[in-house]
Amino acid sequence: MTTMVSFDFLHCFIFGLIFLFPTLFLFVYFLKKPNNGIDLPPSAPSLPIIGHLHLLLFDSIHKCFQKISSKYGPFLHLRIFHVPIVLVSSASAAHEIFNAHDTNVSFRGAIAIDECIVFGSFGYFRASCGDDWKFMRKLIMSKALGPQALERSRSIRELELERFHKNLLDKAMKKETLKIGEEARILVNNTLGKMSLGSSFSVEDNDGKKVSEYSIQLADLSRMFCVEQIFHKPLEKLGISLLKNEIMQVSNKFEELLENILVNYEEQVDKHQGTEFMDALLAAYRDEKTKYKITRNHIKALLAELFFGAGESSSSTTRWAMAEIINNPKILERLREEIDFVVGKSRLIQETYLPKLPYLQAVVKESLRLHPVGAVLPREFTQDCTIGGFHISEGTSLVINAYAVMRDPNSWKDPNEFKPERFLAASILGQEEDRKEQAMKFLPFGAGRRGCPGLNLGYTLVETTIGVLVQCFDWEIKGDKINMDEGSGLRFFLDLAHPLECIFIPRK
Ligand code: HEM
Repeated sequence: MTTMVSFDFLHCFIFGLIFLFPTLFLFVYFLKKPNNGIDLPPSAPSLPIIGHLHLLLFDSIHKCFQKISSKYGPFLHLRIFHVPIVLVSSASAAHEIFNAHDTNVSFRGAIAIDECIVFGSFGYFRASCGDDWKFMRKLIMSKALGPQALERSRSIRELELERFHKNLLDKAMKKETLKIGEEARILVNNTLGKMSLGSSFSVEDNDGKKVSEYSIQLADLSRMFCVEQIFHKPLEKLGISLLKNEIMQVSNKFEELLENILVNYEEQVDKHQGTEFMDALLAAYRDEKTKYKITRNHIKALLAELFFGAGESSSSTTRWAMAEIINNPKILERLREEIDFVVGKSRLIQETYLPKLPYLQAVVKESLRLHPVGAVLPREFTQDCTIGGFHISEGTSLVINAYAVMRDPNSWKDPNEFKPERFLAASILGQEEDRKEQAMKFLPFGAGRRGCPGLNLGYTLVETTIGVLVQCFDWEIKGDKINMDEGSGLRFFLDLAHPLECIFIPRK
């Protein structure tokens, strides 16, 4: 009897412990309130220690996040190990964040590899939003990417587009199989090289091709940057230290190329006409008294990030849009009719025609909606704040799932279908606040003060490239349709799983 009682007591004790620990755990992770007594945002069920990591392992990160938000809601609090994440997947939640907390979320998070020329500590992309960043942003907009600066550099883009067309015609005559994305990337890098470095950037010496090769190599290694950026410290050592040497090898070669071009620019500057962008950067670098000190490393890092970011995003957008066009003959037909009617067959399309080509613009917008190259936008809260009545602590990572926002059935009719016509509808009317919220439905260039400063140039480059391809060529592909599968795994840029290869046939 005694044994019986003690046995029961022991069981009750063990049972109690077993029950107590998970309850305590659940209490700590789910029911815990911050000191000020305000709730955390809603969450999804998590596992001990790893939190929600298991929900993010079996598909691309934007799709995993989309799956979670469609089940548990558009504004969630998740956890990877001890790292808190706020996940935003609707236009209204994004609006609330960028409307009231833009400054608080304008930091992109810790730097992956300090010394790396792309996304390192000298770079612009990862810089915090202080006075130095503001100085640089102003210089970039006034001397390179703002509407007036773009107007002044238009003839450079026209010349590079003609060169691109001629080069494609030569290759088409030889019946070479071409990768559309690679050709577009070289065009973008040549154009950007000429816009920023003038004749020191040599298309004949293949500077654009070399920049493209380094960009491709860095993009291939980019999943490690992503792991670092989204998951911070728990995976830092695991991932980055494994690939750091490989990343630095490419980074060093990239830097060497840019240093050579820069030396060439400085030596030649008396003989040739420099560019206003590079002259302004070098003037700030040489000015001892300036408040914001720009070093040579800052200049090279900025150039590398512009080449890398612009080249990858524009070429990837071109590839997705062309894949959709080739797979949709009716869309191709309507696009050609518009271009033939406005531009004709004897002149090459140029950017001055773009305002008269609304369907071409709509095709590019629809492609960016369905296939945003920046599918998730990672940021970090730099201060405690309250959003929608919920408490968010300083240091919490923010993930805006642009992919999910742009396929949200509450914002878009037939969200998964390619329908460019939706962008031909009348522009959004209503109060200023309504329009701002509506704008958050479409996030291919991000949002807020860290939104893409190359938006206008990006549209121009992609639209004219697609314009030339549609106006001047037909394409022979393997099989009936392009395979639209997305590349898997963690990457900075959402891309097709397979390169878009075809033989170009000049149009009669
Ligand atoms: C279709 C083309 C392009 C797309 C889809 C695109 C997309 C993006 C996105 C999603 C971001 C992050 C925004 C955020 O965090 O809110 C970004 C940032 C940026 N983009 Fe673009 N981009 C394109 C073209 C360009 C071009 C042509 C340039 C310049 C030559 C450029 C320069 C930059 C820079 C410098 C940033 C960092 C801004 C900052 O941190 O303040 N982009 N872009």
